Formats: sequence, structure tokens, C-alpha cells
Amino acid sequence: MKLLKKGAEADIYITSWNGQNSVLKIRKKKDYRVHSLDTRIRTLRTIREAKMLSEAKSFGITTPLVYFVDEKKCKIYLQFIEGKLIRDLPAKKIIKTCKEIGKIVGLLHKNGVMHGDLTTSNFILSQKGLVILDFGLSQKTDKIDDYAIDLRLFKEVLNSAHAQIVDDAWTLFIQGYRKILGKNITEKIINQVLVIEKRGRYANVI
Ligand SMILES: Nc1ncnc2c1ncn2[C@@H]1O[C@H](COP(=O)(O)OP(=O)(O)O)[C@@H](O)[C@H]1O
Ligand SMILES: [Mg+2]
Repeated sequence: MKLLKKGAEADIYITSWNGQNSVLKIRKKKDYRVHSLDTRIRTLRTIREAKMLSEAKSFGITTPLVYFVDEKKCKIYLQFIEGKLIRDLPAKKIIKTCKEIGKIVGLLHKNGVMHGDLTTSNFILSQKGLVILDFGLSQKTDKIDDYAIDLRLFKEVLNSAHAQIVDDAWTLFIQGYRKILGKNITEKIINQVLVIEKRGRYANVI
């Protein structure tokens, strides 16, 4: 078993599952949390992730297959997706991919799911197309504000990690998103993103 990534929330290993290349995601104990609460949070996120990875497929979104879930140990075995993280692609390719990312996020929202962690490290460009990962913070919701929070985070990630392309990337993202959700709802949600941004700015000033 090879360690692929030590994350803030989980450790990711490359391993195999029934002869298939697999990724093992283990949510680790956090000593700064009260033990019982920590167990609850890790179990909840593990179950939620497995459930949403599978459910998203029914919306026509590509996610890794879930091979096995060990709720007690907070472990998930996933299909290994070969490809490159969007974060690591050349700038031009990131811009192009943003339209497809917008469509995927649009499909999630159209089906009442907020992803909760829309970063460019949670999408892999594989030979079979774009794959979305990391549903541990996802939620079922029908609130415009929640969808706006997803968009706001993605915009913030573009702003900080991909500052030189943020304008083009954001424009294409919204184009893809609008294709799925339509003009009216998209406008409402973008307006809400602006409201959240203003809120943030005032919070910083005070
Ligand atoms: N199914 C997978 N196939 C290939 N790589 C993966 C897979 N799942 C996760 N990874 C890699 O591990 C990283 C972290 O996984 P992720 O599920 O996003 O957990 P975290 O909560 O730590 O961000 C991803 O950015 C990606 O590089
Ligand atoms: Mg992640």
C-alpha cells in the first residue's frame, strides 16, 4: 500500500481491491475533537461520501466507483482514476475544462446536491472525460444560498490558485453551468454569490 496524499481530513493510499487498482481513503482520528463527536463526524462523512459518489452517477456525472465501505474504520475503497488533477493542467487547458466543470456542478445543483468542496484538486481529467471526487462535505439542499456558496468557493479557488486565468475560467464555468440550469436560476445564484462576496468584504473591514 503506497501513501498518495496525507490530507487535513483523510489519508489516501494506492492499493488494490479484488485485483483492481484502488484508492483507499481513511478518515483519521482528530485529537483536538471530543472523541465521541470525532467518531460521529468521521463516520457521517464516510457514509455521505460513499452515498453521494454513487448517487451522482444517476445524474449522469462520472465519479469513481465505490468498491467497499468500512463505516466503523471510516475507510472507503474507490476505483483508481488515471489522469491529471485539473489543478496541475496547463492554464489554457484549465480554462477549457472549466466549461465542463460548470456543467457537472450544474447537474449536481439541478439534482439538489451541494458539493461543499469545489476545488481544482477535486476533479481529474481522465481518458474517459472529467471525473469529480471528494463528496465528504456534500449535502442535499434546495437553497439558492447553498448553491451560491459552492460557486463562491470555486471562484475563490480560481482567484487564489489560478489568478492569471480567473476571468476566462470563471466565464466558461458559468457558461457550462447556465447550459444546465438555465438563464433565470443561474442569474439568481450569481447574484447571491455577489451578496456573499459583499458580506465577506464588510466582515473583513469590521
Ligand atoms: N479515485 C481516485 N483516483 C485517483 N486519485 C484519487 C482518487 N481519489 C482521490 N485521489 C487523489 O487524492 C487526492 C485527495 O483525495 P480527496 O478525496 O479529494 O480527499 P481530501 O479530502 O483529502 O481532499 C485527490 O486530490 C486526488 O489527487
Ligand atoms: Mg479533495
